[in-house]
Amino acid sequence: MDKRSGIIERYRKFLPVSEQTPVVTLLEGDTPLIASRSLGSELGIDLYFKYEGLNPTCSFKDRGMTMAISKAKEEDAIAVICASTGNTAASAAAYAARGGLRCIVVIPEGKIAVGKLAQSLVHGATVVEVDKNFDQALKIVLELTEKHPITLVNSINAYRLEGQKTAAFEICDDLGDAPDYLVIPVGNAGNISAYWMGFSEYKKDGLSSKSPKLIGFQAAGAAPIVVGHPIEAPETVATAIRIGNPVRWEQANDAAKESGGYIDLVTDREILDAYEMLASKEGIFAEPASAASIAGLRKSIQEGKITGGSRVVCVLTGHGLKDPTTTRLIKNKVLQSEATSEALEKIIF
Ligand code: F0G
Repeated sequence: MDKRSGIIERYRKFLPVSEQTPVVTLLEGDTPLIASRSLGSELGIDLYFKYEGLNPTCSFKDRGMTMAISKAKEEDAIAVICASTGNTAASAAAYAARGGLRCIVVIPEGKIAVGKLAQSLVHGATVVEVDKNFDQALKIVLELTEKHPITLVNSINAYRLEGQKTAAFEICDDLGDAPDYLVIPVGNAGNISAYWMGFSEYKKDGLSSKSPKLIGFQAAGAAPIVVGHPIEAPETVATAIRIGNPVRWEQANDAAKESGGYIDLVTDREILDAYEMLASKEGIFAEPASAASIAGLRKSIQEGKITGGSRVVCVLTGHGLKDPTTTRLIKNKVLQSEATSEALEKIIF
């Protein structure tokens, strides 16, 4: 199957679709698995980045959304709704536009990266900001879907995970087998659960010989799974994973354990350092939440939890341009110069 046909056509036999399913696609998936130039050798591992920021709306959500919106259409929905820290909203808005459905997104006040908000608005979604955080926004959205015939497209929707598991298939297809470890940021905990489904299915079908150990990372101020209880007021620079009570908590925990991996946390400082390093040393601009996987990789290596020489894939969930404001927090700054070549020479050399 042509890789550029979108994930439903490419992996149709693994997905709950039929000939009757109207496929709503923006040709998502087939994202590059980029070999590390410097970090891998520095850490003594064979390292790859799964760059999900190169999906149509610049995050991994598009894999789940092509499934959720196609199935919503098949089930004659007229509208879809989600609560979101930004990326789910952007993806839902785009795929709903593509499918001719109404889209409503509910977002936590003041904590959405500007690019994500711009996407939701330009795709014509009804965007509603509430003076609460993501967890509370999701709760009210759930209440609404119980009362009205609107399809929920958060990752509670099982079709989302079905679509997202295809990223694991692509990694195995590209490498010829599963890697030894997969390192991934964790927010509402849907994606790590989806990867585990994907790796498990491929192994069961004999398309890979093993499954990787999954290592998930939450941000220190929003790490309910790690500390073992919900966080009332989660805080982190990685706004995409600013979540205090993940819906897929147990499934994610089970996935990590079953795989032989674990879920841990990284600080905002570690996230920002990884964010800048990834862009300046590897040439890959990923958003802060994505950099949690890189920060986490460094921590796991330091703690001796990943064996030297292992093949490791870090998932970079979203594109850095979604959140340009955070670049203000990096060390590199604009320099000022008088407009003469002598002054410029002094600064450069
Ligand atoms: N990385 C990015 C860039 C995200 O947007 C999210 C989740 C995650 C990682 C975590 O994935 O929730 O499946 O564990 N963003 C959601 C949203 C919550 O509303 O866009 P997860």
